[in-house]
Amino acid sequence: MIKSPHPYGQYAEQCAGLQAPLACLNLDLLEQNAQEVLRRAGGKPVRIATKSIRSLEVLRYVSRLSPRFQGLMCYSPWEAAALAQAGFDDVLLGYPTMDAAALSELAKYSVRAHHVTLMADGLEQLQLAETIGRQEGACFAICLDVDMSSSLYGIHFGVRRSPLRTVEETLRLAEYIRRSPSLRLRGVMGYEAQMAGVADRVPGATMMNTIVRHLKRRSGKDIQERRSRIVQALSAEGHELAFVNGGGTGSLGFTAADASVTEVTAGSAFFNPALFDHYAGLRLYPAASFALPVVRIPKQGIYTCFGGGYVASGKAGKDKYPRPIWPECGILLPNEGAGEVQTPVQYPEAGSGVSLQTGDWIWFRHAKAGELCERFRELHVVKGGVRIGTWSTYRGEGWCFG
Ligand SMILES: Cc1ncc(COP(=O)(O)O)c(C=O)c1O
Repeated sequence: MIKSPHPYGQYAEQCAGLQAPLACLNLDLLEQNAQEVLRRAGGKPVRIATKSIRSLEVLRYVSRLSPRFQGLMCYSPWEAAALAQAGFDDVLLGYPTMDAAALSELAKYSVRAHHVTLMADGLEQLQLAETIGRQEGACFAICLDVDMSSSLYGIHFGVRRSPLRTVEETLRLAEYIRRSPSLRLRGVMGYEAQMAGVADRVPGATMMNTIVRHLKRRSGKDIQERRSRIVQALSAEGHELAFVNGGGTGSLGFTAADASVTEVTAGSAFFNPALFDHYAGLRLYPAASFALPVVRIPKQGIYTCFGGGYVASGKAGKDKYPRPIWPECGILLPNEGAGEVQTPVQYPEAGSGVSLQTGDWIWFRHAKAGELCERFRELHVVKGGVRIGTWSTYRGEGWCFG
């Protein structure tokens, strides 16, 4: 194995004797990232986005780092039930569900005051929750998801999620909830994906960065104005909100500065996958990585690893590939990318000084955060330069929530 002062060279030493492919989590870097999240969130509480972590032990660890980490935002109703069962309080389902069986399961956890909150943006989701609530004798807490995308210069800047845009539409659903004995309004979410999930400091893309930053500035005004108008209107109609949620890793500072927001969400920041290297003002460290073993050397300077085709979701593009990071200077082949079973990594013939053998490892970062844990049963955890154990991922728990 290569000896090096570089952190990944050290990981290789710390993980010596283990079998690759393996995933590694550096807790010192994760803690620094957690501090950056808290700093950027101002004084506001931070809800942890489980989709970007997908490991119970990591969720527990992050939750204990500060009392300002309050509550989880999960992505599936079955996951919400599993997390409530595992002892987590204040679990917000970040996305709507039409799964009647899952709602029946969740009814068990909706009896207690703040256990699980459902997300809704339309009548059909509320009616289903109401029916199940009536059957199960439960009263579901509801969060209304308000669309925060902007229409600028004929461009839809944002994501296609909630149809709920106006004060009137939101009040109508809030009134429906008020009249139902099986539902109660607990919060509002206005997630500004175009601020939180669009990079604006991409190397070599000066023109695009300028355009994106301009769009973000314009959209920012629209978001703050619309979100606060909706929150004020709900309050004026006598709806008491326990929280107004917004944001994500890429928008923490912006979202926290919005007076109408009471809490921000962050998930990706903790692992800091490759896509989050390119946001102005974010100071995060790559806490999660994975190693693949070289199993073939088809040509001098090209090392073919086992595994690696862990391409991230979202609009397909080169930025969604895993990024080889150690030894440095490795690139994926344009014609092969990251393969289903085999991933060749090329090093420049001269200059890189890299000479690997079969059995050596190449380290990578995933482009996104939580998707890494869908590929590995456990994370090898390093702290203070020492491997302190292995923590199970959702996959290792036998959990698969889609
Ligand atoms: C509703 C919602 N909130 C917050 C986030 C932010 O998550 P992260 O911090 O992992 O980017 C997301 C990400 O997609 C989301 O869908």
